[in-house]
Amino acid sequence: MTRAVYPGSFDPVTLGHMDIIRRAAQCFDQVYVCVLVNCDKKSMFSADERVEMIRRSVADLPNVEAELYRGLLADYAREKGGHVIVKGLRNATDFDLEYQMAAINRGIWAELETVFLPASVEYQHFSSTMVREMIRYGQPL
Ligand code: PNS
Repeated sequence: MTRAVYPGSFDPVTLGHMDIIRRAAQCFDQVYVCVLVNCDKKSMFSADERVEMIRRSVADLPNVEAELYRGLLADYAREKGGHVIVKGLRNATDFDLEYQMAAINRGIWAELETVFLPASVEYQHFSSTMVREMIRYGQPL
């Protein structure tokens, strides 16, 4: 059984994230969507709200679970028995950051592999940051 972890802040989860989750659910037996705390970011939604939004969004995907973890991603993956991290890539900026994080995670646990899925073209410009901006200005999502 291949278990994968899809980590992020998900503040909030977007259609871009959902696209990656659905595609990952086709590639792996079990996908754990893990809401992690990014200390550098001030969140709009509480951790519990973020998990709840994801749970509702993945309700039709039987092999996807969402939960909160307040620790290192590598430790979470080990606890779940998954050695694959899934990340979506929209552009070169994402790649630079994700490549660095993949190296750090492998440094923590050498068997932890990161698999990148390219963002679907229609979601390439979606980001939680932009969604938060739209919410702040009362724009329809
Ligand atoms: O959605 P984001 O903010 O780009 O996600 C970043 C996140 C939460 C995946 C990253 O900050 C993370 O993995 N945090 C948990 C702490 C950790 O494991 N750090 C080492 C890897 S950089």
